[in-house]
Amino acid sequence: MKIKELKIAKKAAWAAGKIIRQHYEKDFAIRHKGSINLVTEVDLKAQDKIEKIIRKAFPKDYILGEEGPQTKRIRATRRWIVDPLDGTTNFAHGYPHFCVSIAFEKNRKLEVGVIYDPMRDETFWAVRGKGAYCDERRIHTSSTDQLRSALLVTGFPYNLYRPETNNLILFNHMIFKAQAIRRDGTAALDLAYVACGRFDGFWELGLCAWDVAAGILIITEAGGQCIDLQPRNRHELLPSALIAGNPHIAESLHEEIKKIWSFQSTPKRKKSKK
Ligand code: IPD
Ligand code: CA
Ligand code: CA
Repeated sequence: MKIKELKIAKKAAWAAGKIIRQHYEKDFAIRHKGSINLVTEVDLKAQDKIEKIIRKAFPKDYILGEEGPQTKRIRATRRWIVDPLDGTTNFAHGYPHFCVSIAFEKNRKLEVGVIYDPMRDETFWAVRGKGAYCDERRIHTSSTDQLRSALLVTGFPYNLYRPETNNLILFNHMIFKAQAIRRDGTAALDLAYVACGRFDGFWELGLCAWDVAAGILIITEAGGQCIDLQPRNRHELLPSALIAGNPHIAESLHEEIKKIWSFQSTPKRKKSKK
């Protein structure tokens, strides 16, 4: 069991969470990465803290962080995948729903995942082959087996203009199939909620490795299923378009999405026109 890596991932997530909590609803600098894509000074402080803690414990490991240099180095034997603040838009608006997400990968296999919600002080975590937990409690995905009874969650990427990430078509379809759909603004915490059965299923397009790495391991260890919706591009090992859920709901979502994409013809990656 990767005890030391788990300990460090939790320590880093809690330290970053403390920084985030201290700045919540206070003044902080905000910069635009794109027209609606924000980064705050708190994202940067949290990333810095996480890197320091990981580097001190494992100086040779590679860290892929959303606010770091972002070379993916998929060949690195030991890689940490970090979203220091997932749900930046929520945080910037004082909507108390965001998290820290940290995963550790060895030889391209996810080994440890930690997602920490600093507002509710809940830690979702898993080690490969050892089950998934919320704090000290073992967690499992839900047992809902009909889409009609399922509470789903999804999200919308910052780049709304590319056909391959236009989620409105899928949203419009799924809202008539499910019991209800939420859009909570933090993909990593959405995945943690799927792992513990608060949500039955999730799908999203246009995600990054740091949004999904920890969540994929936690859901898998909680008995759920994660389905990669688009062929992996050679620069990344983790899905950028993901379905997740308990196995029944993940399969049903997959079937529904295939229906939509087959008559639309599978979206191709092409240059976007803004
Ligand atoms: C975003 C959130 C959001 C999702 C976006 C992500 P950020 O991450 O997870 O829920 O819909 O695709 O980029 O920018 O808050 O770290
Ligand atoms: Ca994110
Ligand atoms: Ca982020």
